[in-house]
Amino acid sequence: MKNADILTGITTTGTPHLGNYVGAIRPAIESSREENKTSYYFLADYHAIIKCQEPKRIEQSALEVAATWIAMGLDTNKSIFYRQTDIPEIPELTWILTCVTAKGLMNRAHAYKAAVAENEADNNDPDKDITMGLFSYPILMAADILMFNAKKVPVGRDQIQHIEMTRDIAGRFNHLFGEHFILPEAVVDEKSAVLSGLDGRKMSKSYNNTIPLFESEKNLRKLIMKITTNSLAPEEPKDPENCTLFAIYKAFATLDEIKAMEKRYKAGIAWGVMKQELFEYLNEVLREPRDTYNRLIKSPADLDAILKQGALRAREYSVLFLEKLRRAVGINRLC
Ligand code: TRP
Repeated sequence: MKNADILTGITTTGTPHLGNYVGAIRPAIESSREENKTSYYFLADYHAIIKCQEPKRIEQSALEVAATWIAMGLDTNKSIFYRQTDIPEIPELTWILTCVTAKGLMNRAHAYKAAVAENEADNNDPDKDITMGLFSYPILMAADILMFNAKKVPVGRDQIQHIEMTRDIAGRFNHLFGEHFILPEAVVDEKSAVLSGLDGRKMSKSYNNTIPLFESEKNLRKLIMKITTNSLAPEEPKDPENCTLFAIYKAFATLDEIKAMEKRYKAGIAWGVMKQELFEYLNEVLREPRDTYNRLIKSPADLDAILKQGALRAREYSVLFLEKLRRAVGINRLC
């Protein structure tokens, strides 16, 4: 097996929504179709247990995320799709990397610093509720990436610092033990849309304003009807820019359809009509994948088989590479 040209992970704590799809899943699926590129996609379930201590939620989310990627068209023959927890070499590498990572580097991580700042603002002990998992999060992420010597790592803006830390850690290891790691690069897709949610803020599970991708037809309609608009009356010309409804439509429609809709905005389409049209459009796009998704969720054994095959392929690389890294630090396995 070849090292990763492209690698990315998805933390399994939530239910995939339209914003996840447009911002991360769709671009990843597109690049998984590129010829002659080895892409690795994985469910970051060890990352998920840092933030979420509800076993049912973790299990359900892993299922939902895997089913979403497959239902939306990930080609699991071309790409390697697996769960982080099925690759035991990743936590082993995490420890090896932990031993060369400066504590000072981890002190600078945004997520950790934000947690400390919040405690201080509330006059609490600065360490309140901060686990070693949260503190060491970037090292586990570095291990995910370095385990497969990934070259490019597509991520959201908030993750760039983690890739920089990965490069630091890799550089330190290389300096001490020889050139084993490629320094990965973050790829931030400027083209992919960031969708707003029901209340107009960025669609995100932390704002509780999401439209899950595979809601039932009835709920999908209900949610779209809830999207906030301004109070312009029917027939008053409307601005498609800064309109949540239009932005969602645009993320799915063809160029010609987008242009036609822009005209209807200028001509004063009523919000109720636009909501109904957006619902019908999305419902059509999602109908088939939704059926596939529901079928997969009901028969986890099919998903397990796909993920297992992915893990076996990934381990063709990780087992041998970890062996080499262990030897580099002076440890040989006896059994
Ligand atoms: N931390 C990433 C996030 O929250 C998920 C992730 C875990 C990841 N390991 C990774 C992304 C490795 C890219 C590469 O979005």
